[in-house]
Amino acid sequence: MEQVVWAPSLQSLDGPLYEKIASALERDINAGLLGAGDRLPTLKELAAALGVTPGTVNRAYELAQRRGLIDGEVGRGTFVRKGDKPNALHPARPAPVPAAVSQPASMPAAAETGRGNDWVDLSIVKPNLQLQEPYVRAALLDLANSPVLADMLDYTPDGGHPLHREAGAAWMRQAGLQARAEQVLLTAGAQHGLLVAVNALTRPGDLVLCESLCYPGVASVVHSLGRRLKGVRLDDEGMTPEHLRELCKAERPALVICIATCQNPTSSVMSAVRRGQIAEIAREFDFALVDDDLYGFLAPSPVPPLASFAPERTLYLTSLSKSVLSTVRLGYLHCPPEWLARLAVSVRSSIWMVSPLAAQLGTSLINNGRAHEMAQAQRAEAEARQQLARELLGAFEYRSQPTAFHVWLKLPANWTSGDQFAALARGHQLLVAGGEAFSMNRDGEGRQYVRISIMAGSREQMRFVLTKLGGLMSTPDTAWF
Ligand SMILES: Cc1ncc(COP(=O)(O)O)c(C=O)c1O
Repeated sequence: MEQVVWAPSLQSLDGPLYEKIASALERDINAGLLGAGDRLPTLKELAAALGVTPGTVNRAYELAQRRGLIDGEVGRGTFVRKGDKPNALHPARPAPVPAAVSQPASMPAAAETGRGNDWVDLSIVKPNLQLQEPYVRAALLDLANSPVLADMLDYTPDGGHPLHREAGAAWMRQAGLQARAEQVLLTAGAQHGLLVAVNALTRPGDLVLCESLCYPGVASVVHSLGRRLKGVRLDDEGMTPEHLRELCKAERPALVICIATCQNPTSSVMSAVRRGQIAEIAREFDFALVDDDLYGFLAPSPVPPLASFAPERTLYLTSLSKSVLSTVRLGYLHCPPEWLARLAVSVRSSIWMVSPLAAQLGTSLINNGRAHEMAQAQRAEAEARQQLARELLGAFEYRSQPTAFHVWLKLPANWTSGDQFAALARGHQLLVAGGEAFSMNRDGEGRQYVRISIMAGSREQMRFVLTKLGGLMSTPDTAWF
């Protein structure tokens, strides 16, 4: 397809510049001025035509990509998306994916170091995949030969097979929670657990609180279910009791979601005292808590789960995604007995049930001790990589924990936006997460940061990548634009 000359009029469009450009794209695609497969101008070309910065065009293209309008192909350019163009017969384009859960633009299919291309994905907090493979191979062979396989071909009772719920409880007990299998339900990972929790424990229009800088999947769930979200200010330990109380006095929240250990993205860990204070406020203002603890195994030193401070009103949420195996998509929630029925309905209405085959794989890894071993191996690897980060990024300001999978890196003053830096890094085949996406109050908090996951590829590759990243950070953004 040939490149089109496209220099849209932005008059009569609302919003910030980048939104206007994305809206102009949508308008001109709908009007047939741009067709499927058309190659759009480069960032620089369109920036020059519109008299804006390439960074603004980049944000516009990212937004348009999230809206399903265009695709970026590394080295080839940006194209109007192929497939159904909305028209009178097919008016319903899927609802735009909230910015919060979108992947970075231009991400290639296999963005894993050393897997057939040169991209390195530091934008998703995930475990080291190379450490998992031998365990997973062995577990799959065991499953194929296991006498329980036949049972796993059938539908399960509500909440999961009793053996799988028991394994979930055992996994939670290792994390320090006094868990009972009868209070456990299976979920398809922690993201699904969040969806189930918000859906079952709140109603449309309700207020949900979380940390002001937070994992974007929280915002996507809360907004997509029509609940309202506000962020509670953070300090070095995470959610601050003072601001939480202040917000509760103004309006009682239905639910507060808290990442108490290795908070995503700031990596803070709440002390036991702070956990107790949050639990106390939950009692005082009578709201429910979600303790999102999938990073609990990465706590630098043991600390009781937040849920254990208010078990009567807390849904404890975990998954195997970070500690054992992300793609088994297996999570567990533990809740007060009177919430079980509502939550089970929410699981059923969203996915009917978690795959018993996947659950059996997770169960056997938990029961034979391999899951624990895998989690410990990931933790040790994280510790080694955090040392590497200290060595290579020590000149920059960043927050992390000695055993965390990620760092929350402040850009030097010569940078004005994490998204802009992410765009530059993408040009160097590095994917990082710009800080803007983590701002729950959408007030620009986090704008000066990027979140970097340090677990991809080998340590040697990570050494190379972090060195490269440090070099890019030292480049003034004006040198690029
Ligand atoms: C705090 C937090 N909660 C939930 C999730 C979702 O995890 P899962 O892959 O188990 O769905 C993530 C993923 O990064 C996360 O960081």
